[in-house]
Amino acid sequence: MPARLVIEGGVPLRGSVAVSAAKNAALPALTAGLLTVEPLVFTNVPDLQDVRTMIRLLETLGAAVDRAGARVRVRVERVTSEVAPYELVSTMRASVLVLGPLVARHGTARVALPGGCAIGVRPIDQHLKGLTRLGAEITIENGYVVARASRLKGARIATDLVTVTGTENLMMAAALAEGTTVIENAAREPEVVDLADVLNAMGARIHGAGTVRIEIEGVADLGGTTHTIVPDRIEAGTVIVAGAITGGDVTVTGLVPDHVSAVLAKLEECGVALEVGPGRVRVCGPERPRPADVTTSPFPGFPTDMQAQLMTLLGLADGQSRVTETIFENRFMHAAELVRMGASIETEGSTAIIRGVPFYQGAPVMASDLRASAALVLAGLAARGRTEVSRVYHLDRGYERLEAKLAALGARIERRA
Ligand code: EPZ
Repeated sequence: MPARLVIEGGVPLRGSVAVSAAKNAALPALTAGLLTVEPLVFTNVPDLQDVRTMIRLLETLGAAVDRAGARVRVRVERVTSEVAPYELVSTMRASVLVLGPLVARHGTARVALPGGCAIGVRPIDQHLKGLTRLGAEITIENGYVVARASRLKGARIATDLVTVTGTENLMMAAALAEGTTVIENAAREPEVVDLADVLNAMGARIHGAGTVRIEIEGVADLGGTTHTIVPDRIEAGTVIVAGAITGGDVTVTGLVPDHVSAVLAKLEECGVALEVGPGRVRVCGPERPRPADVTTSPFPGFPTDMQAQLMTLLGLADGQSRVTETIFENRFMHAAELVRMGASIETEGSTAIIRGVPFYQGAPVMASDLRASAALVLAGLAARGRTEVSRVYHLDRGYERLEAKLAALGARIERRA
């Protein structure tokens, strides 16, 4: 039986916890190693399943990757394969991030089409459209995207929608293109900014990261650098909700408060008391949260990756809330499991109506995707009695030792094989 988490709920969390570096910044940063023959060194890489998968993928492409604890060194002196195989890509969609760097550095890339995942179809048409604008020839062959370009040329790219990894892929490809590229409608997530910081430290000339318009002046080649990855705003938000939902008193450190401002604003609307300091947030949970309505949107709006966690809190509010998910078409799978714990949630398309209940009852539940599994852990922490969250490998993709962090705050939680 795959590992599961066993939680005895009802304990208000107390104490201080530091967040890890961001999964969604580490993944693109690692692929930037394809853009140079020099080594990239990252000092604080989180130990996550998705990071291990990305390292394996880079090694199949010819990278030498040395890992000593949180310190990871990536060096691609020569690209020995341009194929990102289906068996790796199908386990992690972020594999698509090797497409741009491979075409830019190596001239050809053959990346398995990721296929859908639990939360939606998640096409990559915007990535391909942008690479075509940069002069790549794109074909689809036997379930693989094949991209070829002798030398990419700068262009003006306007994506039809905001895409985080699409922006990252195009920024990396444009960094080595001939001439200047402008990406309009760019994603403004902090992870995009962190990647631009890595690329500029490597010698790229990127301006405007964090705004809707990024300008990239192509250079002939890029060098190595050493970089500390930005803190994980979604892990931070998740642990802050853990403090709130258990009525506890928790201080989360090592985060960038500005990266969670939409989440903090919504939690205050729910009656959660927050004290924000330099690199830290103290959260005191209310007796019972107040209801609130929320609509997910690209940064700086309320992040889709926090939607399941907030819904779990709203499930205990003293009133009705409405959650609207605008980013993915199927990201309410946690709702059915919360209902099994006593929640009253009705979903209709991209909207969920939550009628708060006074408490959750512990129950055996099953994780379905990364953030849904985090939501079920939160529900278990607040519930009366025992909750067992199965298929916890979903959680391990994006949270580094979450149960240890929660146990250090007093939670009665343990992993059982
Ligand atoms: C990134 O995924 C994150 N992953 C996701 O985090 C996050 O939920 C998402 O951004 C939104 O913030 C990484 O950064 C590795 P998108 P990404 O391209 O880049 C559609 C987690 O939990 N779209 O911004 O794949 C797409 O279907 C993960 O850590 C197209 O239609 O998301 C979605 O509806 C889950 N065509 C929307 O745009 C495209 O070419 C946003 O997707 C690209 C995207």
